[in-house]
Amino acid sequence: MSQTTASTFTTAEWQQKRDQFVSKGVSNGNRSLAVKGEGAELYDLDGRRFIDFAGAIGTLNVGHSHPKVVEAVKRQAEELIHPGFNVMMYPSYIELAEKLCGIAPGTHEKKAIFLNSGAEAVENAVKIARKYTKRQGVVSFTRGFHGRTNMTMSMTSKVKPYKFGFGPFASEVYQAPFPYYYQKPAGLSDDAYDDMVIQAFNDFFIAAVAPETVACIVMEPVQGEGGFIIPSKRFVQHVASFCKEHGIVFVADEIQTGFARTGTYFAIEHFGVVPDLITVSKSLAAGLPLSGVIGRAEMLDAAAPGELGGTYAGSPLGCAAALAVLDIIEEEGLNKRSEEIGRIIEEKALEWKTEYPFIGDIRRLGAMAAIEIVKDLETREPDKAKAAAIAAYANQNGLLLLTAGINGNIIRFLTPLIISDDLLNEGLHIVEAGLRA
Ligand SMILES: Cc1ncc(COP(=O)(O)O)c(C=O)c1O
Repeated sequence: MSQTTASTFTTAEWQQKRDQFVSKGVSNGNRSLAVKGEGAELYDLDGRRFIDFAGAIGTLNVGHSHPKVVEAVKRQAEELIHPGFNVMMYPSYIELAEKLCGIAPGTHEKKAIFLNSGAEAVENAVKIARKYTKRQGVVSFTRGFHGRTNMTMSMTSKVKPYKFGFGPFASEVYQAPFPYYYQKPAGLSDDAYDDMVIQAFNDFFIAAVAPETVACIVMEPVQGEGGFIIPSKRFVQHVASFCKEHGIVFVADEIQTGFARTGTYFAIEHFGVVPDLITVSKSLAAGLPLSGVIGRAEMLDAAAPGELGGTYAGSPLGCAAALAVLDIIEEEGLNKRSEEIGRIIEEKALEWKTEYPFIGDIRRLGAMAAIEIVKDLETREPDKAKAAAIAAYANQNGLLLLTAGINGNIIRFLTPLIISDDLLNEGLHIVEAGLRA
């Protein structure tokens, strides 16, 4: 057994080894060495504490190493680590499928399948939709993010860094227009802008792809990497009814928005729409690599035995963690808490807006909150450099904070939902100091 522990080397030595042996292609927002996580806090090798507003990019709604998750994973590891669901079934996979089918929107019959990563869930939603509809076309939206595999990269916006030099991409993938109210043409009301985007969406199916060739439309109910952009109810309902009219499978990608992040189990619940399929991952399993597709039973059953799956897909450890997560969300009232956290962030951000002339927009759904940094309140020109400087200040001063957006000018808040008011306010003070600096 290796005798190496974190303290075998200094932070500088770990950094040197990281640079020597780990691909440059994977970035580190923070170059400290994480050694312990607890709730909404992370500790590095040098004993420094970080308040975590990043939550492993929205993966830790129940926080780091929640005791119930740790206990469930330990118990599962002692009993059975991995028979491979394709080889022999086990209870946690089936129980999790039953629970998720119960909480997913809609009263129709549902089924689920589990995979490893978010991208793999989206890939499988596309496979399921294609098999079910016997069509090939895949429609996602501008500014959307769906992953880093070939298909999901093809569905994703933001060429640099996600796609640049990685083509050719998958064929029969099209990106439809998606609203962005803060950056709408000057003088238009939100309603008039909605009319415009809905018209552009309809036209897209004349100019870019015929609806009868489209298997699925995949939408993030709130765009995550795209900058926490919240569409109107009207737009989402239009897309859903367009899908219904044309026999297209409507997929809600809830990988970043799911599991209480927006104050409901799934963000799509805010829009009064029942999707055909939902992709889930991230906070589903509190940091264990697990993802899934939940949806209409007849769609999940379109593929024949053996056509879906994967060696590690739906591992018992991930499923055990996810079952604990669902209990924690209920027991600790995290849907309600999400709204409270969002409100605290919003109130603070509104104060900042009166003081700092570079905060253009504040938006949130539950605790999925963001501020948009601009060079000028009139022109609304994105200020990527300032957003990066604020995030860098936070990271140097004990707060893990992320940016987002096509132009990198959005500061996003993805705090664990178990965070206390005190810790949340402490983190917000660091953001405020960053704004001032
Ligand atoms: C909405 C959405 N879909 C898909 C993905 C891809 O997930 P993963 O990185 O686990 O492949 C992400 C990751 O950020 C995401 O936010």
